[in-house]
Amino acid sequence: MIRELVIKNRSYRRFHQEVPIERETLKELVDLARLSASAANRQPLKYLLFCQPEKNQLIFPCLSWAGYLKDWPGPAEGEKPSAYIIVLGDTRIHPSFSCDHGIAAQSIMLGATERGLGGCIMSAVDRVKLRQALNIPRHYEILLVLALGKPREKVVLETVGADGDIKFWRDKDDVHHVPKRALDDIIVG
Ligand SMILES: Cc1cc2nc3c(=O)[nH]c(=O)nc-3n(C[C@H](O)[C@H](O)[C@H](O)COP(=O)(O)O)c2cc1C
Repeated sequence: MIRELVIKNRSYRRFHQEVPIERETLKELVDLARLSASAANRQPLKYLLFCQPEKNQLIFPCLSWAGYLKDWPGPAEGEKPSAYIIVLGDTRIHPSFSCDHGIAAQSIMLGATERGLGGCIMSAVDRVKLRQALNIPRHYEILLVLALGKPREKVVLETVGADGDIKFWRDKDDVHHVPKRALDDIIVG
């Protein structure tokens, strides 16, 4: 079951924007992050939740989508995320966050996938602009933005070919292909 969930948990970047996500759902997802591992159990992560169109439109312009798809500027109106979770590091608790935010993000994304939702972990974020737009206090480091919604695209996994190219691509039917390295190529001993 975990394998199926992990395979289904792809990065989705196009959504049914008209399908709302309740704040309560976002809280349940953050609860999964709360229960996850944390370096020295410091639990320095904090979260901002957004699920309203007026607020969402403050976040969207701060994000960069799918860098390898040079001719695609990102989701169009109607296919943008319905919700966002911003993962913050509270520097008053500790100055660095180890890989806590990656673990938290994966827990949240797996929970979203289980609920029939999907999204994208995003670190290509204009943090200066986002901090200003949302008035985020300086003691919070902006670590990740998690874009969430009901997926509206097909994503399939491929195996990285002999040329070693890891860049994802879209085919003529608009299916998104993601090459993954073969198991034998990543177990080195
Ligand atoms: C830490 C991290 C940061 C990422 N940042 C972005 C981003 O800023 N923009 C984006 O479109 N995708 C971003 N992604 C998604 C990756 O591009 C995606 O994971 C990769 O293409 C593999 O696809 P998959 O998630 O379906 O396996 C990020 C993923 C991770 C784990």
